[in-house]
Amino acid sequence: EYEKKISELEKKIKNFPNFPKQGILFWDIFSAISDGAACKLLQSLLIETIRTKYPDAEAVVGLESRGFLFSFSIAAEMGIGCLPVRKKGKLPGDVISYKYDLEYGSDTLEIQKDSIKPGLKCVIIDDLIATGGSLNAAIQLLSNSGAKVLGCLVIIELESLKGRKNIPKDIPIHSMIKYD
Ligand code: PRP
Ligand code: MG
Repeated sequence: EYEKKISELEKKIKNFPNFPKQGILFWDIFSAISDGAACKLLQSLLIETIRTKYPDAEAVVGLESRGFLFSFSIAAEMGIGCLPVRKKGKLPGDVISYKYDLEYGSDTLEIQKDSIKPGLKCVIIDDLIATGGSLNAAIQLLSNSGAKVLGCLVIIELESLKGRKNIPKDIPIHSMIKYD
């Protein structure tokens, strides 16, 4: 049943060669969720996965911006917190920051201090893992802020980019659909 749902969803995800740059194959989750039935299917898969893999989660952390779509829908269904990780300068109040290196330059992610209680059990969610740089930065940010990262959930994993290699070994990553 789970496998059937996954392959249904998989059929609806389009890819776009050479976007946003030459040589990149862009897997577009929005192409799937423009379809109402696919939204419902994806939502049920996400909830099923969270309930099975991370039943103790107290908060879902979504990565800007595509992660927000799924963090809220899961949090609302489960009745647990929905916390955003955003790029520098977007969140008001006291924030905790984590700066990390990119291929060219660096980026900084932030989370609101008041939303993190010590030991808060959270699951990080995003649409996709490519190099793993974004997820790893979010893991470091949350760990530095005193939260407990139970694991990560993504819809799509681009396996050839070996993103898992960039994630600490003790943090489980669950992906629903794998592409080369
Ligand atoms: C994409 C995607 C993931 C990230 C994965 O986000 O939504 O968040 O890249 O890449 P990585 O594993 O190599 O870090 P993007 O930065 O394009 O921004 P968006 O979500 O706002 O579209
Ligand atoms: Mg993103």
